[in-house]
Amino acid sequence: MPDTKILVTGACGQIGTLLSTTLQERYGFDNVIASDIRSSATFSCIYEQLDVTDANKLFYLISKYQITQIYHLAAILSAKGEANPIFTWNINMNGLLNVLEAAKNYKLEKVFYPSTIAVFGNQTPRVGTPQWPNLTPETVYGISKVAGENWCNYYFQKFDVDVRSLRYPGIISWDTLPGGGTTDYAVEIFHEAIKRQSYTSYIAEHTALPMMYMPDAIRATLELMDTAKENVKVRTSYNVGAMTFNPAELSEEIKKHIPDFVIEYEPDFRQEIAASWPESINDTDARTDWGWKESYGLADMCQDIIHNLTQNNNQ
Ligand code: SER
Repeated sequence: MPDTKILVTGACGQIGTLLSTTLQERYGFDNVIASDIRSSATFSCIYEQLDVTDANKLFYLISKYQITQIYHLAAILSAKGEANPIFTWNINMNGLLNVLEAAKNYKLEKVFYPSTIAVFGNQTPRVGTPQWPNLTPETVYGISKVAGENWCNYYFQKFDVDVRSLRYPGIISWDTLPGGGTTDYAVEIFHEAIKRQSYTSYIAEHTALPMMYMPDAIRATLELMDTAKENVKVRTSYNVGAMTFNPAELSEEIKKHIPDFVIEYEPDFRQEIAASWPESINDTDARTDWGWKESYGLADMCQDIIHNLTQNNNQ
């Protein structure tokens, strides 16, 4: 078995930044190559510019670094994607197909592909959303991820490409910012609460969404990737849940730490997207197949984020 050498695409993003660092701590400095479309980035590991639609550059990097695994995070998210659907489809779909082709041709050991709660739509039960419902998403991002999940399953069934995937809920972090998602409000709110003690939410007061704190998201990713191949039974993408809340519940929790905090509501086009997504997720398959269990709920997540942001502000 060759040494593990990992390529992370979309490494400058909200998840990619922290995942690259965590992988580097685990596998060593020389064994993780962070890549993104930006020409340069500050990383503690090796960085390469990569447009994921450029198959030749992707193949070149795989050969250059003798890559054995890819974490393919590069994608345009739900809200931003609606501004330019064909561009979004091109990045999200052709990027993935290049990665899957590379995995087949270079016989990569494993690939990770993030999917999302955006695969669900108005035809899906919103509470306890099951693993295998009708998937008729409302956004181009969701459409690309449903197709992507099915391509992953196809490459696994036909070519034995060991590609694994999670349907991430909204991911909440304090040290990296999301870009262009519908669930971003739940990150922005903390920064505004600390800076201005107020926040105007573009998601309506009582629209609940499934969410997960970043340390759980990173751990879920690594646990799925560490699972023995035969135990990874869902080859489209696993539902994973951790907590669920609406903006009013989140603001009540923030008020426990910042009593002057006030929230206002001005729902925009993102509200319609959020209203088509689940409130909560049934993730029994993930719990049964590879032992998924979240560590953070709403209260301890809020406490941790506010503590970290306050400390950072005071430095
Ligand atoms: N966080 C993503 C978004 O809002 C959902 O996967 O687009």
